[in-house]
Amino acid sequence: MRKLSCLFILFTWLFLPAYSQSKNKTTLTSIDAYHYQVKKESVYTKAAVACAHPLASEVGAYVMQKGGNAFDAAIATQLALAVVYPGAGNIGGGGFLIARKKDGKLLGLDYREQAPAKASRDMYLDGAGNAQTQLSQNGRLAAGVPGTVAGLFATLPYAKLSFTQLIQPAIQLAENGFVITEKEATNLNKSQEAFIQYNSVIPVFVKSVPWKAGDTLVQKELANTLKRIQANGAKGFYEGETADLIVAEMKKANGIITKEDLAAYTVKKRIPLEFDYRGYHIAGFPPPSSGGIILWQVMKMIESYPMSSYGFQSTQATQLMVEAERRAYADRAKHMGDPDFFKVPVDSLVSKYYIAQRMHTFTPGKATPSSNIPKSSFPESEETTHISIYDKEGNMVSITTTLNGSYGSKTVVGGAGFLLNNEMDDFSIKPGVPNMYGAVGGEANAIAPGKRMLSSMCPVLVTKNNKPYLVAGTPGGTTIPTSVFQTLVNMIDFTMTPADAVNKPKFHHQWLPDEVYIEKGFPETTKQEMIKMGYHFTDRAAIGRTEVICTQGNRISVAADIRGDDSVAGF
Ligand code: GLY
Repeated sequence: MRKLSCLFILFTWLFLPAYSQSKNKTTLTSIDAYHYQVKKESVYTKAAVACAHPLASEVGAYVMQKGGNAFDAAIATQLALAVVYPGAGNIGGGGFLIARKKDGKLLGLDYREQAPAKASRDMYLDGAGNAQTQLSQNGRLAAGVPGTVAGLFATLPYAKLSFTQLIQPAIQLAENGFVITEKEATNLNKSQEAFIQYNSVIPVFVKSVPWKAGDTLVQKELANTLKRIQANGAKGFYEGETADLIVAEMKKANGIITKEDLAAYTVKKRIPLEFDYRGYHIAGFPPPSSGGIILWQVMKMIESYPMSSYGFQSTQATQLMVEAERRAYADRAKHMGDPDFFKVPVDSLVSKYYIAQRMHTFTPGKATPSSNIPKSSFPESEETTHISIYDKEGNMVSITTTLNGSYGSKTVVGGAGFLLNNEMDDFSIKPGVPNMYGAVGGEANAIAPGKRMLSSMCPVLVTKNNKPYLVAGTPGGTTIPTSVFQTLVNMIDFTMTPADAVNKPKFHHQWLPDEVYIEKGFPETTKQEMIKMGYHFTDRAAIGRTEVICTQGNRISVAADIRGDDSVAGF
């Protein structure tokens, strides 16, 4: 049976249906969805992709091999991830794309989800004014209006192949299935109860016996949705049958997304934030992500210190970075939100004067209590995913995309086969009151119809002497900017290889709770010395899943994080 399916996949990918060949004759891929391997690092000379799943990386590399560029790969890889990595890959979520085109011009696409028209500031409060996080995190009411499909079509003008071609691998993967990894099996098993609870029709993710590595996941309904998008473009998602199915799903319980919300969704072009750090030029994503501002702040806060002489994860270097993180995160809730609804004082937050003033209270050898730093917020969940891409023409593309929590709201649109996000929980569901993560939010990120919820996603691009150097990013909720921060510092200050920079243990401080979170392997001596300075440490699970592409001349070094099934591909 498996052999037959394999042959079928090979056949269909080599001999695409006639409609898929209209714009360009390139046929797509004989990638074997039943036998594939995770590849953690490699060096290529022309093009590379790193993302959360080997099949999606291979799809991205393949479209570039067949004449596509990094934007083609961005579209095909995201679509493939929506199939093979359902925990965070998506068409029911949203994301941010930052790119540097081969002519050196930057592009920022904001396809973040947004609050439906019927959303309101207090929609998650009960009669007594208590926040009901189960509603902002699970089921239909947790979903924002999805942006991903609009984002893919906003990327298309920069690509070379037809959308019909770029979506075909995802259709094949959904229709004919692929074997799942052990990590995917574990994650699916953990969510079985939730899938049953938040769906009226039991989705394909539910199985009567536990999932295990090597099981095949077939998603026929998702394949049909992808075919509607293939045939009708963005309208195949935001209008017609798919929109009908989304609205019908909303009506099954407490959902509020309407056909008007879907039809009205648009991608917004954002101007990337740009700053220099020790001779490197860094471009990050502006609000509604907090990622770019936080990264700018923390890097500038440490730039005047001799990091390389301090040494990697030395007490001095770690204390300084923790204090920078504490201060940047404290700014987040008060000042950051959707810039179309709230004036975010970006220039002030990253001004030399403000950064210097923020670090004025930094005392080497002594912890600054978070109670001495003004307030902040960081409600994001960690299940997001990142794609780094570089092509032979010099295009750099960095995308972070999310459903928010693992498998988003856990609600699959009945008949359409895709998971809806639970991104509404990234708003401050009750401004000023701690949420389930112990964080407090602010007015800047309060819910309003049509508003986009604050994010921490931080896709970045780095150039040196005006030439491509690094494409990077990671999932990880509030740990995203600190993971990117540490990856960049590891490479720039501590001259690590991309793989080391990504895989070394990380630490994280986010102002509140006043804790330094550390991964396994963080140096014990540094920890003990910092405890004496007044820091509290908490062990935690993996921080981030970072994907890095580093280009130097013809050498493209690419590294995928060891913390997941993340994998590289290229040629
Ligand atoms: N949902 C995670 C983020 O946007 O930061």
